[in-house]
Amino acid sequence: MIPGIDVNGVPKFNLLPGVTPLEPLSRLGAHIGLSNLYIKRDDEGGRGGGGNKIRKFERQFAKMVADGHDTVIIAAHHQSNAARELSGTAARFGLRSVVAVKDLIGRKTAAFGENGNRLLLSLLGTELVEVPADEDFVNFIKQLAKRLQFEGASPFILPFGASDVLGTMGYVDCADEILEQVRVETGRDPDVVIVPTGSGGTQAGLVAGFARRGVLTKTVGFTILKSKEDAINAVGKLAKETLGELGDKDLPFEIIVDDCALGDGYGQTTPDSLEAIRLTAQLEGLFLDPVYTGKAMAGLISQTRHGLIDSDQIVVFIHTGGLPLLFAYVDAFKGEE
Ligand SMILES: Cc1ncc(COP(=O)(O)O)c(C=O)c1O
Repeated sequence: MIPGIDVNGVPKFNLLPGVTPLEPLSRLGAHIGLSNLYIKRDDEGGRGGGGNKIRKFERQFAKMVADGHDTVIIAAHHQSNAARELSGTAARFGLRSVVAVKDLIGRKTAAFGENGNRLLLSLLGTELVEVPADEDFVNFIKQLAKRLQFEGASPFILPFGASDVLGTMGYVDCADEILEQVRVETGRDPDVVIVPTGSGGTQAGLVAGFARRGVLTKTVGFTILKSKEDAINAVGKLAKETLGELGDKDLPFEIIVDDCALGDGYGQTTPDSLEAIRLTAQLEGLFLDPVYTGKAMAGLISQTRHGLIDSDQIVVFIHTGGLPLLFAYVDAFKGEE
């Protein structure tokens, strides 16, 4: 069994090797005009290639194992990082993973159909069940769970993006880690934390975590999926529910979401995100992806250029993973779209 601990009465597995590293991005920072830019390496560690879902799974898997489930289900798209991380983690526990998949991006290239996360999902042996285009994800997944139950399985349904209160608590932990690491490194608190925002659990956990610690650190989410308004609502709801569960329901917090990097929508590349990916690779030797972290970095560059972030502020960029997506989007980098 994986070592578990109980935090605030909620069981938790340790699915990461320890605290994820905080590293300076001095060369990229100098290039874009930030003298205190850091990256939090949440792309490192965990099964299935790692990424931001691993922290979310720490309490979710503790619950599903404690409750005796043998199968885990999630709704996702064919190039989903969440599905990959889920299947990798499920393999570690001997659980079966079933993913209800739908085309949410409409990219028809060969690489998108077979490389990147798609390849890794096939290596992981993930069972993919296609959701008809006209069918609602929520309804479909409920029916799927019923069918699996009828066949003798005990399924656990994870929400889209693994964003519920238990998952969000993983990023409350991350906020604590960031505060300790930045204080050791600089003697100050971080001013701004940057994150790509999809289903919202990652940003919500950070917001809740900083609110609990009573610091002024702002979490800026660059939405890559929802409209700005929907993202603010989703993040706010999760942050509130999570604080409530942790016994801090009346703590004030602010939700900041910027849609400047969204472009034509989820999974659609933008020239700025491709440029941000190249810059980060060439100046720092680190890989971002075109769907999430590349857009968040493009957003950070844009905010810095527009004077929304001061050059001496301490900025922490959360690397949420997603490297396999580079191989699914190979055509975007060849300019052959
Ligand atoms: C690499 C990466 N970054 C960010 C996100 C978004 O995180 P959240 O859904 O918690 O907003 C995801 C979600 O799939 C992701 O795969």
